[in-house]
Amino acid sequence: MEAYLYELVHLILRYFHVIAGIAWIGASFYFAWLDNNLETPPQWKKDKGIKGDLWAIHGGGFYEVAKYQVGPEKMPSTLHWFKWEAYTTWLTGILLFSLLYYVGADAYLLDTNKSNLDVATAIASSFASIAIGYAVYRFLCTTKLAENGRLFIAASIVLIGLYAWGLDQLFADRAVYIHVGALIGTCMAGNVYHVIMPSQRYMVAEVEAGRIPDSAPGLKAKLCSIHNNYATLPIIFIMLSNHFAFTYTHQYGWLVLVALFAIGMWVRHYFNLKHVGINKPSVLISGIAAFLVVMLAIAPWPTSTEHTEQSQVNAVSDAQAWNIIITHCASCHSDTPTSTMFAIAPLGLMLDNIEQVKQHADKIYARAVTNKDMPLGNLSQMTEEQRVTLGNWLQQMKEED
Ligand code: HEC
Repeated sequence: MEAYLYELVHLILRYFHVIAGIAWIGASFYFAWLDNNLETPPQWKKDKGIKGDLWAIHGGGFYEVAKYQVGPEKMPSTLHWFKWEAYTTWLTGILLFSLLYYVGADAYLLDTNKSNLDVATAIASSFASIAIGYAVYRFLCTTKLAENGRLFIAASIVLIGLYAWGLDQLFADRAVYIHVGALIGTCMAGNVYHVIMPSQRYMVAEVEAGRIPDSAPGLKAKLCSIHNNYATLPIIFIMLSNHFAFTYTHQYGWLVLVALFAIGMWVRHYFNLKHVGINKPSVLISGIAAFLVVMLAIAPWPTSTEHTEQSQVNAVSDAQAWNIIITHCASCHSDTPTSTMFAIAPLGLMLDNIEQVKQHADKIYARAVTNKDMPLGNLSQMTEEQRVTLGNWLQQMKEED
């Protein structure tokens, strides 16, 4: 029952996290697009203080949108704010993160091959790393660096690399990616909470008081909004990364993440340019090419020595392989899991008989032999030798087919 409750809470949090995330990133994409597509308005609109306008058609109707240079003369009776998308995404994200990586620290956060942290120290370090990371970002935003977009991006990439590398010394591979995601998500939501919202409240108060707001807070907010915009594609990748063990389990997984992060921002840059009428396919093409280069670099090319070694090893019996599966996999991957963490087999993968093992041979090879992120958290301490034996047996079966 406990495991079922855990899964249920997991489902609810993940579901709301994704829904809120779509609403937030959707709004972010929309407003970035809107801002970049504004056109010079006719004189009568300029006279009202409008700096740009735009026409659109959607859902069977025409829309006319206008952006004011600073603010309208009079406050409209209804003013829509966009903040709950960000807050809900962050709150559900932090809860989901805590459920998986703190409540489930044994399986998802700790990695005894990397460090011997106890659960409490691991959680404290994890939490502190995000808090400190956010403080560093807030500080950087107040420095001269923030005024130079390119330098700021370069510095961020270096810092993210350092952060990911540091975490990689302590935590499980998968946790490294999610920590970077949690930090970036915190910076993004923090931008809304600490900069964008206060600046908007200030502007509204000034307009209500019949004064013309100073433009500086608005510009600061705009900068944060641009940072958030560039972070969207990388953070979406991180949200999906737990489906792609070949990225985070790579020997240099942290570096793979840094590369994909930079590529994500570069591709976003293409779209931002395009919105302001600058079409530079070279940006998009080089981004895709860089992605393919990274994918080629991390591909698990079979080495020639591997093959000769394999042909020399003694045949592995079905019983030997089955023994390994029973010892290391069946507690979770079964019709009736005995693990306290899973009420049903994760991803529906059941390994209750040798036929099922054969059926999923490729996936098993990838996770238990190549990527080595199964068994989860290596809780049962599967040895290197057992991985080789299981790998040889899986290879053998392929050759028999
Ligand atoms: C403590 C529980 C646990 C144990 C033990 C465990 N796994 Fe997993 N396994 C999971 C979870 C959770 C997932 C889903 C999350 C993920 O993909 O990382 C998973 C996913 C997988 C997948 C991906 C399935 C798919 O459809 O993509 C494979 C393959 C796999 N495990 C193989 C194994 C093998 C082989 C062993 C034993 C050597 C093993 N697992 C032991 C929990 C476990």
